[in-house]
Amino acid sequence: MCGIVGCFAQKGCYEKLYSALTRLEYRGYDSAGIATLSEGGAFSVRKKRGGVAAIAGAPLIGCAGIGHTRWATHGVPSDVNAHPHLCGKFALVHNGVVENDAALRAELSAQGERFLSQTDSELIVHLIARAYAGDFFAAVSAACARIEGSYAVAVLCADHPDTIVCARRGCPLVAGAGGGALYVCSDIPALCGSAAYICPAEEGEFVVIRAGEIGFFRADGTPVPGKVFARVRGAARPRAVVAKTRMEAEIAEVPAALAGTLASLQEADLSACRAPFRAARRVLSVGCGTAYHATLAFCGLLASQGVPALCRPASEAADLAAGEGELLVAVSQSGETADTLAAARAARARGAFLLAVTNVEQSSLAALADAALFLRAGPEVAVAATKSYNCQLLCLYFVAARLLASRGAPQVWEQSLAALPALARRAFGSFSAVEQLAAAWQGARGMYFLGRGQDAVTAREGALKVKEIAYIFAEGLPAGELKHGPLALVEKGFPVALVCTARALVRKCAAAAAEVAARGGQVALFSQYAEALAIPAAFHIRLPAAPEPLMPALAAIPLQHLACRLALLRGHDPDRPRNLAKSVTVE
Ligand code: M6R
Repeated sequence: MCGIVGCFAQKGCYEKLYSALTRLEYRGYDSAGIATLSEGGAFSVRKKRGGVAAIAGAPLIGCAGIGHTRWATHGVPSDVNAHPHLCGKFALVHNGVVENDAALRAELSAQGERFLSQTDSELIVHLIARAYAGDFFAAVSAACARIEGSYAVAVLCADHPDTIVCARRGCPLVAGAGGGALYVCSDIPALCGSAAYICPAEEGEFVVIRAGEIGFFRADGTPVPGKVFARVRGAARPRAVVAKTRMEAEIAEVPAALAGTLASLQEADLSACRAPFRAARRVLSVGCGTAYHATLAFCGLLASQGVPALCRPASEAADLAAGEGELLVAVSQSGETADTLAAARAARARGAFLLAVTNVEQSSLAALADAALFLRAGPEVAVAATKSYNCQLLCLYFVAARLLASRGAPQVWEQSLAALPALARRAFGSFSAVEQLAAAWQGARGMYFLGRGQDAVTAREGALKVKEIAYIFAEGLPAGELKHGPLALVEKGFPVALVCTARALVRKCAAAAAEVAARGGQVALFSQYAEALAIPAAFHIRLPAAPEPLMPALAAIPLQHLACRLALLRGHDPDRPRNLAKSVTVE
């Protein structure tokens, strides 16, 4: 959720920190801060409520520094609650949640410690200061041992102006080197363009930058052997179009992202999956938010072919009890979502085979998995997931096709996967109609998204996008459920987006449209079929045609554009929706 960065550079340390923070902003943007340490051991600190631009200003002096972008959990967004937090000789930035916050606060308060902020993070720097007896590393290690919960921290000490001590448990941390600087950071994309080489820290490891060198250690101070720095991949692709927001740019990149996914999908990546594909008793799948919607489409596809397949939001996966002889497919753009990691760890501990589908090669999820498929969608920065969803679906179609083939049920639609990038570009043809729809619906206080079968999944994803960035109440429903309650809200002008991509269900969709129209509701129909588009409706949005099982990857595109247009028309920044962060690293 928050983003942390540390940097040691003889020249331009402050500028490098600031630049990394601008790329980390998607992890939180309610406050930001930087602290640097001069050779003489003096701190310079600038921290403020607001985005990274709020702390722009003259460079702070020093070769070592730490920075933070915040997504508030404990304490409101404010200058005081912004990181870094200072205590005595120490400055600290933290990502994570201290779960024993109340007990530690009471203990430290009883010992006379006074806190300036309401954050749980400030407790850690007090613990470090109290544990310090001249050994910087030992003090950080001792403080970390007292924390229940999750953390990635980077710490400066006035007695050691050439050193940054960092640690992780439950939150990502990666070390980087390049351009005359050494880094630690929450995320690889924030180092793209700065670090040429990176190496992720594993769970429980410490990273120490000292006198121009970088090393990995265990909590007892012994070095971790065998750490290898790899060349940074996945630098941002040049944008295909001039877009005002990142979300618009990322929607415009969907065809190129799908082409990237397609080019990289190799049967060999699934070689380790042969036995579970053939023999798994059940195929289980977890993800959160948009990634969860991708698992719904995946499991629906497998179940339609008779494979026992179940999915859950990762935070609700306990009842799946994935275990020995079962395959768990965990889906996450970032590969760092805490709920998804927790479900994946639990399943693996019980003996399930774990296949990760993620966009980030060095992510915690990829490291945990028995096998991994990478989206290779390029960095996705806007908080609302767009191109990653289309690419997750493509990866999952590939997994489904290979799994079904290994069970003697090859699918003809597998041949059509190669056409998806071009078809996605054709979906842009619907955008002018979508813009008219957005103009008509911009004042709505609520709306429904309906579909049947796999279109109910697309409907849920469309509704999530609208809620998330346009702040309009939206619900995605199976169209057949309408008459069992939700119809009560439909009155004159109530907006209903109806997705219909299954020919066999056109008549049932017509019935739903008629139910809405009879109450004065306004239907927008999304379909590739002329007969569906002939259903009386206020708006008709034509989709490109693909084999029906692949339609969710295409039908999502106009809905992504609709949400983005609604946000912009209502004066909201779609890249920075309130209350949210791109990567949710707390459970
Ligand atoms: O990185 P992940 O795919 O694991 O993220 C999961 C969700 O937090 C994410 O999809 C979220 O729902 C999006 N902001 C929705 O647009």
